[in-house]
Amino acid sequence: MRILFVAPEGVPFSKTGGLGDVVGGLPKQLAALGHEVAVFLPRYRGTKIQPTVVHASLSVPVGRELRFPSVVGGFKQEGVRYDFLDDPEFFDREALYGGPSGDYPDNAERFAEFSRAALEYAKLVWRPDVIHCHDWQTALVPIFKQSLYAADPLLAPIPTILTIHNLGYQGLFERGVLGRVGLPESLFSIDAMEFYGRVNFLKGAILASDWLTTVSRCYAGEIQTEEYGCGLEGVIRKRANRLVGILNGVDYSAWNPETDAFILARYSAEDLSGKQVCKHNLLEEFGLPAGRLDRPVVGLISRFVDQKGFDLVVEAAEEILAEDLQIVALGAGMPVYEEFFRNLAAHYPEKVAVRVAYDNALAHKIEAGADLFLMPSRYEPCGLNQIYSLRYGTLPLVRATGGLDDTVEPYDPKTGEGTGFKFDDYTSDALVACLRQALGVWGDLAAWRRLQARAMSRDFSWRASATRYVSLYQDAQRSRIPAAAAASVDIGSGDASRASAESSRKG
Ligand code: ADP
Ligand code: GLC
Repeated sequence: MRILFVAPEGVPFSKTGGLGDVVGGLPKQLAALGHEVAVFLPRYRGTKIQPTVVHASLSVPVGRELRFPSVVGGFKQEGVRYDFLDDPEFFDREALYGGPSGDYPDNAERFAEFSRAALEYAKLVWRPDVIHCHDWQTALVPIFKQSLYAADPLLAPIPTILTIHNLGYQGLFERGVLGRVGLPESLFSIDAMEFYGRVNFLKGAILASDWLTTVSRCYAGEIQTEEYGCGLEGVIRKRANRLVGILNGVDYSAWNPETDAFILARYSAEDLSGKQVCKHNLLEEFGLPAGRLDRPVVGLISRFVDQKGFDLVVEAAEEILAEDLQIVALGAGMPVYEEFFRNLAAHYPEKVAVRVAYDNALAHKIEAGADLFLMPSRYEPCGLNQIYSLRYGTLPLVRATGGLDDTVEPYDPKTGEGTGFKFDDYTSDALVACLRQALGVWGDLAAWRRLQARAMSRDFSWRASATRYVSLYQDAQRSRIPAAAAASVDIGSGDASRASAESSRKG
């Protein structure tokens, strides 16, 4: 099968968060399963590639303007083809989506161009069997396909799949945006893109895509509720029979303490001595006293945004720091949380250190050197850091939501089983109680080691999830073939419809 990924970021070419990791990892696994995969990304300033021209000039209308971006790349890495939309005026910028003063004001136009170019690419450069889009930045792919390109015979048989990585980012714009991106006013309707008087790209795509996925089973259920649906729960419920939750995998070639080149000493579940070396090195790197390795280090790597539960950390800070532990934090984002961590480090110089930055090498060092990994998210579609933590024997302490709930098995004091620590209520009291439980286990080395061994043995590699995506692509392809044609060309069409029903139930 020929699978086209259209995504706003992908490792190793661009990344702001977990989406980049997913677009780095899943296509490789699909290729390893024998499929042909192409990934279409914007060429940003930080995208390090040889800009070999694949297509010198696409004609892409953006509102009343006609733009002429090129497509560059065309090379293969680990079996995956990569192509990039090259329009320096739109993408050769300091950051991917915005700067300190907020989102770039022309994001709608930038990603409209990208999405429309993706459809032209699918016609002119690399013809796929399915198009797999990711998040609001590519939401206009299914929308353009279903509206302006509805009569296109080349695109008509190609199903679109939209993965929602985070419902908190929807691509919301004022009404005038429709004209600016070249979409008809008729889409300003409650059954299309209209959302409380504004235009919502993600809503439009939820309605226009053939299939929807999200990145954990738990989150697939949560987003159908008022609490987690960000106002789109009704629309999502409407499409519930086309929604599947497929847990993200992780790329163990990049995140594995046995081979990690970023850390000072390698280690495994059988021999954890290297982890102590990493812990010592981490404390030194962060300028914290490293004389007492018997007290736990709590690690934190995150975008500093409300989603990640930092208001709980702010509320609980004093109680947390009354305990005998140290905290190392790496992150950047909302100034209020950057300030909070800087102040905390200033008040507790022996116990807290923060690096306000985006630093991949340091992220690896924290995964290896910390004992506990803190992720008290308000919501978490999947979350990757807790999965990395499991592999590094750094026990995750998480709130039971979304992918955190699906990937971390809570410590059971009766049996001693589990792979980490979990709390339910979104309160600082619940967080502190959970931390105290973890510290209790820390006091019992044998019990701690058993949890570590279990955590390190868990396998979240992409293989199983990639196989589930393949069945979904197949279902999607079948559902595009009109029933009569399917009956005549596909002897197994009875199975096809059963497979479809099966997938929807899994969602
Ligand atoms: P999200 O996508 O919501 O940010 P995930 O847990 O899915 O959360 O993925 C975050 C990814 O970004 C992980 O690979 C993590 O290591 C990385 N990351 C987040 N913040 C930083 C940072 N400040 N420095 C380096 N890596 C970071
Ligand atoms: C989003 C989510 C995160 C998820 C990632 C990759 O950024 O916030 O939970 O792991 O996408 O799917």
